[in-house]
Amino acid sequence: MLKIITRRLCLIEKKYVYQQAYSTINSEKKYSNEIQILDKKYRTDEWTNVGDKIIEKLNKNLHIKKYHPLSHIRERIVNYFYKNYPNKWGNPEFSVYDNLKPIVTIEQNFDSLLTPKDHVSRNKSDCYYINRDLLLRAHTSAHQSELIGMGLNNFLVIGDVYRRDEIDATHYPVFHQVEAVRLCTKNEVFKNVQGSGGLEIFEDNGKMNEQKQQIHSLEAVKIMEHELKKDLVGLVQALFGKDIKYRWVDEYFPFTHPSWELEIFFNDKWMEVLGCGIIRDEILKNAGATDRIGWAFGLGLERLAMCLYDIPDIRLFWSQDSGFLHQFEFDDPNTNVKYKPVSVFPPIINDMSFWLPDGKFSSNDFYDLVKEVGGDVVEQVKLIDEFKHPKKGKTSHTYRIIYRDMERNLTQKEINVIHKKIGDISMADLGVTLRSK
Ligand code: DAH
Repeated sequence: MLKIITRRLCLIEKKYVYQQAYSTINSEKKYSNEIQILDKKYRTDEWTNVGDKIIEKLNKNLHIKKYHPLSHIRERIVNYFYKNYPNKWGNPEFSVYDNLKPIVTIEQNFDSLLTPKDHVSRNKSDCYYINRDLLLRAHTSAHQSELIGMGLNNFLVIGDVYRRDEIDATHYPVFHQVEAVRLCTKNEVFKNVQGSGGLEIFEDNGKMNEQKQQIHSLEAVKIMEHELKKDLVGLVQALFGKDIKYRWVDEYFPFTHPSWELEIFFNDKWMEVLGCGIIRDEILKNAGATDRIGWAFGLGLERLAMCLYDIPDIRLFWSQDSGFLHQFEFDDPNTNVKYKPVSVFPPIINDMSFWLPDGKFSSNDFYDLVKEVGGDVVEQVKLIDEFKHPKKGKTSHTYRIIYRDMERNLTQKEINVIHKKIGDISMADLGVTLRSK
């Protein structure tokens, strides 16, 4: 999400819409300017766009739930780093934080990572804001700076992250990430280089170029890059087998330079599995690590688990159904299983067309509203038609909403009620005008 490319067609700021949507959806809170999240109350303001359906996900902690597929993958990744980086006494050099609270400040999620003030990832249409100062973390990188500031040099952060996004089989507003950071001193970087007496990690009159930051020596960066790439290729080989095909792609992230993405060739296509790079020195200096160079990477657990276990739909991770959960009840996380669908229930497909308001409108606001009102029976929402009236100058959108429950048959009657409610709330909160069929 923090890549420079603009994934959004519609990056428009919607100032009031979400406050209204929120107050209508949670009608009892209509006049309240507080919101309860876990055990605490938070002030709301015009930035608030987090609703009950999202808040409910907050302490589910699927990534540490016994036998959950996400937890198996987490364990495999942690074991890989424990094994690869023993300290001199044979204990793991990496420490693991898998229970940090997902409520973070703007400073943690963006500023501390040097995300530009006008970067698209800060947009209200991309994140779940509690208020203008706090949000549900959009990535586990949000904890980098605070942990580095505590003096840690090797750590993994694993947890739930929250993003407003389209809805389909591979996107869900909550998913799980692993973040890794490793910092090294000069001696550590050059420990395997013979006669490294004169080598430094920093240089005085250096220039930034595509290979390195201004402050770093090329030797140090190349050694760190080599270690990072070797470890990450080792990780995907540990997960997918020695023969997995992979490639490195140059990337941009605000917090690393240089930066790369690792892709693997899986099911006949290239798939991005992680982002990584050499941490921007300013982040380390701001956090008090003045004599080190470091690398970091971030990856999503759901995507890996879907590939490794053949899980077809991201909502299944949230299933309480024993038919799903039973299939992962094994103690050795390396157990090789493929998910077998217990049964597939038919979808119900309903379309909705409306005229957009004169003011601002973002499809993400609509996706979110559908998710908030419909909950987990919404399998997919997509824009299937866009049309501009030549005379009136108004634009109309048609969305297809696919409803399906993972565990039972839905009836058209119950879906009609939900569909109507989505229409009504869209009119009230997004200012759209429904078009009759
Ligand atoms: N935080 C990034 C994201 O969510 C992933 C990432 C990329 C993490 C590069 C990193 C990194 O630590 O170095 O898209």
